[in-house]
Amino acid sequence: MADTDSLKETKDFCLDVPYRHEAFFVKGSTSLDWGMQNRLARIFNPVSGHTVMLAIDHGYFQGPTSGLERVDVNILPLVPYADAVMLTRGILRTTMPSSLGKGIVLRASGGPSILKELSNEQLALDMEDALRLNASAVAVQVFIGGEYETQSIHNLTRLVDAGNRCGVPVLGVTAVGKNMTRDARYFRLACRIAAELGAHFVKTYYVEEDFETVTASCPVPIVMAGGKKLPELDALAMAYKAVSEGAAGVDMGRNIFQSDAPEAMIQAVNKVVHEGMKPAEAHELFLTLRSEKK
Ligand code: R5P
Repeated sequence: MADTDSLKETKDFCLDVPYRHEAFFVKGSTSLDWGMQNRLARIFNPVSGHTVMLAIDHGYFQGPTSGLERVDVNILPLVPYADAVMLTRGILRTTMPSSLGKGIVLRASGGPSILKELSNEQLALDMEDALRLNASAVAVQVFIGGEYETQSIHNLTRLVDAGNRCGVPVLGVTAVGKNMTRDARYFRLACRIAAELGAHFVKTYYVEEDFETVTASCPVPIVMAGGKKLPELDALAMAYKAVSEGAAGVDMGRNIFQSDAPEAMIQAVNKVVHEGMKPAEAHELFLTLRSEKK
C-alpha cells in the first residue's frame, strides 16, 4: 500500500497556462490514434519531418540481389544512418539485432518471383505477426494499370483495415509495369488511389516533370523510391529535388547498397533529406567519407 502519511498538498495547477496541445507533424495524420502516430514518428524524424528509409526488401521477389548477398555484413553498418529499414520478416528475424532502435517497415505482400507476373501478389504477412515484431508500419505493393490491379488494391484495403484495428500504419508502394509510362499523370493517379483507399504514406518514383503535382495531390506523405542504380551525384540530386518538391523523404535501396561506398552514400543522402544539403556539397561529402574509409 502506498505511504500516505506525508502527502503533499496539490497546489500548482498553472491556471494561467493553456493545456499544451501539439498538432501531429506528419501530413494527413492529425486524426490518427496515438499508437498510429507514435509508430509514424519512429519513421519520420519529428525534428526535420522527413525520413531516410533504407529499402532492403528486394529478396522477397528476386532472391539475393547484388549488394544484399550478406545483409549481416553489408547492411548492418548502414542502419545507424537510416531512420527506418524496409525489409521482410525473414531478414528481420534472422539478421537484425532486436536492439536495432530504428523504425521497422515490414514487407507484407508477395507471391510471384521475378520469373512470373509480378502484379499477382497476395498478402504475405498477418497483422498479428507485424505486432509481434513491433513493426512501425507494413508495406504493400499496388499495381495500378497492372494485370492484377484489383487484387493488389484489395491487398491494400485489407491491410489498411487490419492496420487500423491495431494502430499499424500502411505504406502503399506504387509498382510500375515494364511497359507503362512513368510520368506525373500516372503517379498522381496511383498515389491518390492508394491514399484514398487508406494508405497512411505512399512510396513512389521521382519524375523530372511536375513531381510537385504528385506530392500536392496526395493527402499523405510521399517517400521517393530510389529505383535502379545511378551515379551518386545523380541519385543525390534526385533526392534533393524530390524533397524540395514536396516528398517527405526517401526509401532508397540500390542507390545506397550498390554504391561502391554505401556508408558514405547513406550519410550523404541523410544530409540532403534532413538538412537540405545541396547535391554538389553532399557529393563532396560522399567523396570525402569514401576516401577516409579507404
Ligand atoms: C519495390 O518494389 C520494392 O519495395 C523494392 O524491393 C525496393 O524497396 C526498391 O528499392 P530501390 O528501388 O531503391 O532499390
